[in-house]
Amino acid sequence: MTAFKTETLNKVNEIIARYPEGRQKSALIPVLHLAQKEFGGWLSVPVMDYVAEILNIQPIEVYEVATFYTMFNMKPVGKYVLEVCKTGPCMLRGSEKILEHIRRKLNIKDGETTPDGMFTLKPAECLGACGYAPMMQLGKFYHENLTPEKVDEILELCRHGAMVLD
Ligand code: FES
Repeated sequence: MTAFKTETLNKVNEIIARYPEGRQKSALIPVLHLAQKEFGGWLSVPVMDYVAEILNIQPIEVYEVATFYTMFNMKPVGKYVLEVCKTGPCMLRGSEKILEHIRRKLNIKDGETTPDGMFTLKPAECLGACGYAPMMQLGKFYHENLTPEKVDEILELCRHGAMVLD
């Protein structure tokens, strides 16, 4: 059965309490973040239905939001999700070269996960760090001014379990 751990549920209730009675839908995005983190890095239909139940809203209201924002994963992902920005400024500064390097190195296409479940490559739209292009997000952190060599270092740190995500 899908259920948050008590500790997470306490956080969820704390978030809901920030909004006026009857406006608990406002808590949807932060609650989805917690759900994604707790239930394996992606949002399955049962998980989204569970969030709808907690917030006392219709499941469709959760699906609409979860499928709109790219930070929510709609299918299982690897332990490390490489969100490489591919929007204009990053593109001008070589994001395609970075993406191609990762595709080749990990032998996966955009949106795919390596067979060992370690890495998912997820091209992203502007992540607001254009001044440090090209860049990618990994967990809660940004990795900026990327070069193929820097990417290799990042992948190595991940493989050794030394990459901080949170
Ligand atoms: Fe890449 Fe803005 S264009 S962070």
